[in-house]
Amino acid sequence: MILGINGHPRNEGTCRTLLEEALEGAAQEGAETLLVSVCEYHVRRCDSSEWCSSQAGCSIVDDMWKLYPLLAECTGLIVAAPVFFAGVPSDLKAWIDRCNPFYKDRKIFHRNLFPQRPGALIATAGSERPADFIGTIEPVRAFFFTLGVQFEAQLLIGGLDTLPPPHPILEHRVQARRIGAKIANLQNSESAGWQPDLPWWNHIPEDGGCSCRKK
Ligand SMILES: Cc1cc2nc3c(=O)[nH]c(=O)nc-3n(C[C@H](O)[C@H](O)[C@H](O)COP(=O)(O)O)c2cc1C
Repeated sequence: MILGINGHPRNEGTCRTLLEEALEGAAQEGAETLLVSVCEYHVRRCDSSEWCSSQAGCSIVDDMWKLYPLLAECTGLIVAAPVFFAGVPSDLKAWIDRCNPFYKDRKIFHRNLFPQRPGALIATAGSERPADFIGTIEPVRAFFFTLGVQFEAQLLIGGLDTLPPPHPILEHRVQARRIGAKIANLQNSESAGWQPDLPWWNHIPEDGGCSCRKK
């Protein structure tokens, strides 16, 4: 399954449309696809608690536990995000930060987790300044690295504040479809349904003991 993450807090617009196009391109190559949007899940920010620094897994109990399996079992990953103040929107950043358990597994507990999968980024921006995309590319690159995802393609579309509507234009839709097709053709079928063999995987903690996680 190729997983598409819509990192836009609004579940419509250029960003989501381009992601849909990419997933359509993947589907045309025979891939199974799934689109998830940050606005449909309640994911709290990482609080980097003391609990977290001493053990594997994550102490926060929320929808991220529904997303971990999807991130594990996807055969390819496409992230779509608008540039917000030269970075990724805060909801998406929370998802990325909450993948720290995988980072810990790799770096601290030396567990090599994931089969290699291909990944792509679709980013949109109001301005035409290429530098505005750096703060989107780098967190997504780190996210991919942590999940064993190879950064295979990117589609960066700037100037949306001045480009006359309707957005996205046909050319950008076609480019997004191509990216989806590329990810589908590179997908690692061996990772389909794959789940990591981790001590924390099926043990959602009752209470991580961090005061800031109380609702
Ligand atoms: C809170 C916020 C911050 C933004 N910051 C930037 C920015 O730093 N640089 C930029 O080029 N565009 C910025 N934009 C414009 C969005 O990137 C642009 O409207 C979006 O990518 C268009 O895609 P959409 O139709 O999916 O919303 C910002 C928009 C919002 C709402």
